Amino acid sequence: MNILILGGGGREHALAWAVKQNPKCDRLIVAPGNAGIAQIAECAAFDIDDGDTVANFCAENAVEFVIIGPEAPLAAGVADTLRDNGLVVFGCSQAAAQLESSKAFTKAICDACNAPTAAYGHFTDATQAHAYVDKQGAPIVVKADGLAAGKGVVVAMDLETAHIAIDDMLGGQFGSAGAEVVIEEFMDGEEASFFILCDGETVLPVGTAQDHKRAFDGDEGPNTGGMGAYSPAPVLTDAIAEIALNDIVKPTVAEMAKRGTPFQGILYAGLMIKDGQPRLVEYNVRFGDPECQVLMMRLGAQAFDLLHACAENRLSEVSPNWADDHAMTIVMAADGYPGPYEKGSVINGLDTLPETSSEMTFHAGTATKDGQTIATGGRVLNVTARGATLQDAHARAYGMTKQIDWPEGFYRNDIGHRAL
Ligand code: AMP
Ligand code: GLY
Repeated sequence: MNILILGGGGREHALAWAVKQNPKCDRLIVAPGNAGIAQIAECAAFDIDDGDTVANFCAENAVEFVIIGPEAPLAAGVADTLRDNGLVVFGCSQAAAQLESSKAFTKAICDACNAPTAAYGHFTDATQAHAYVDKQGAPIVVKADGLAAGKGVVVAMDLETAHIAIDDMLGGQFGSAGAEVVIEEFMDGEEASFFILCDGETVLPVGTAQDHKRAFDGDEGPNTGGMGAYSPAPVLTDAIAEIALNDIVKPTVAEMAKRGTPFQGILYAGLMIKDGQPRLVEYNVRFGDPECQVLMMRLGAQAFDLLHACAENRLSEVSPNWADDHAMTIVMAADGYPGPYEKGSVINGLDTLPETSSEMTFHAGTATKDGQTIATGGRVLNVTARGATLQDAHARAYGMTKQIDWPEGFYRNDIGHRAL
């Protein structure tokens, strides 16, 4: 089968790595890809947020199956255009992508299906928003409704912070993404991520993970897209996962189907867990990055069969074959990330690293220049390992980071500390 993956980060390298191992994969193309992906697949450059462009590329290259990695093409309706062109697509429709692209939409879905989540109000009028915050008191959470590159959430521990966030968001800080704000009850507890394949009807859990959002050790420093992750998440026990599946995920999927906009793809449920009860923090409609890297490391080649069955509405026929294993990924980022950082520094030592079914360095932001690998992004490498225990995976992954010679990069030394 000829397969196209859209995206060019560590998530897509991990997807490509897993898909490539499956004997059903004949030709693998990734757009745009990166230097690491180029070692295992063809890379192509075109506008992945434009459905017609992607559809034309598929026709010209006899692509049969498209896997969409990031949220932007999903929110832009690329999956819809490709399906209209007869392609088999892993990734949800534009209507279903509202579960990520609009927080007010997700809240309304939770209301309609009684899924446990934080109490909330939503506002386009600043006076009403300020009054609501004053009435509720702090701590309280202020969110821009739309996609704001992970920056649209302010967890306000005092009222002043909340009022400033309202004025910033409704004042245009995030453009139209902040034209509406959702104001939520602050939820206390431990966060974990739950990943569920859905084919519109059947749901199939494919793993749990926890990531580390802050840039520096000890959960200090600014928020990032994620500095490392591990799977499974011990806090998300089988019993809690079952509750989340029955009380949150299945009702959501049923509600989406009822509205004529079935969800097909991967549902990433961010959960807050307290006293054995999960509540929904947010949905994403894509794999997490870097959570995908640990999930793919654990699933390996079977990931292709699961994703393909999902795209063909055959999820009820498949199930993951779990080894009782653990995986960890450590993000190496450019000095300065998530703020401004330099591009172009040379990374050495990558050719000394093992590449096995239990050890892989996924590339997130790299390119090749004059025969050398250079850093081109904020998050640059995802050093990933698997083991019988989380301790094993941790020792392996940290051992690999020591072989990488990149003075302009940094990483956290305490990935997995909560679980270890
Ligand atoms: P989101 O983009 O909705 O995932 O929010 C980003 C982060 O803000 C989450 O991962 C949580 O750590 C935090 N957060 C969001 N909503 C809440 C809430 N209602 N209570 C506590 N923390 C929250
Ligand atoms: N690592 C968090 C995310 O992918 O949204």
